[in-house]
Amino acid sequence: MKMIKIESLSKSFGRHQALDRVSFSLGKGEVLGFIGPNGAGKSTTVRILLGMLKPTSGTAELFGQDAWKDAVEIHKRIAYVPGDVNLWPNLTGGEVIDLFLSMRGAAVDQDKKEALMKAFEFDPTKKCRAYSKGNRQKVALIAAFAADADLYIFDEPTSGLDPLQERVFQDQVRKVKARGASVLLSSHILSEVEALCDTVAIIRNGKIVETGKLEALKHLTRTQIRVKAERSLDHLKEKNWIHDYSKDKSETVFLLDTNHLADLLSELQNCNVTKFESAPPKLEDFFMRHYETDEEVD
Ligand SMILES: Nc1ncnc2c1ncn2[C@@H]1O[C@H](COP(=O)(O)OP(=O)(O)O)[C@@H](O)[C@H]1O
Ligand SMILES: [Mg+2]
Repeated sequence: MKMIKIESLSKSFGRHQALDRVSFSLGKGEVLGFIGPNGAGKSTTVRILLGMLKPTSGTAELFGQDAWKDAVEIHKRIAYVPGDVNLWPNLTGGEVIDLFLSMRGAAVDQDKKEALMKAFEFDPTKKCRAYSKGNRQKVALIAAFAADADLYIFDEPTSGLDPLQERVFQDQVRKVKARGASVLLSSHILSEVEALCDTVAIIRNGKIVETGKLEALKHLTRTQIRVKAERSLDHLKEKNWIHDYSKDKSETVFLLDTNHLADLLSELQNCNVTKFESAPPKLEDFFMRHYETDEEVD
């Protein structure tokens, strides 16, 4: 049985169609990256899965149950973290974590909770009104990971976290996956998705434009490279894994198919490189390159 099964899901807000026949599924023990630019329809899909929005048409099932009708049963088995966590201003972070966990009904694993607070370097003694955005995210993340859920639904969960805490988040996702839980990770951070996900579903303007194994997406990503060298680099121009080769003053700039990084480094070995910069592929660029000719939906 699939943990999530969405079939031909559509949602309209008045005349605006936010989702147009979206389909994808998530198996047990899998991590699915749900990616797309702002306004693509990620949160609308997530809200339907949570039973907070009713689909206009199509079906959304979790554990074989209907997201809208069976929300009570479903919520016992899921943990959810939104991208913008609202908390009770007058309670401390620790109190809110306990409150979230007590609402789940099951006994709280105090050791696990303490370990998570430590890993995220979270101070639970402050009132929530004093927390930064990153700290509010941590409250929800700690409560989610401390819960023994079968399915974790994250909607852009790491906004406001610094790179070290992003690593902690990734470690925790790997842990829940290792014990057989499933994760839906909505994100616009390609590196996060690349690090964690088995499969991806890419959404744009309410439509799924690509689904499948991450490997299939990986060869579509390109890294921007800037090199300064004492010898000519023009032999690189001929490589079919190098694109948009150009000169910028004394430097050479191009896009590299990310899976050819090792090839590039060996090509550069005898060129007396004096400067090398690489910018990770951005999801926005990926979208720009592959879908910029698509009709814009208003
Ligand atoms: N409650 C709502 N009423 C009207 N339009 C909405 C509502 N929620 C979302 N939308 C619109 O639906 C589209 C998808 O939004 P959303 O699912 O939040 O995108 P994402 O999470 O991918 O950034 C956007 O154009 C947004 O403005
Ligand atoms: Mg959103």
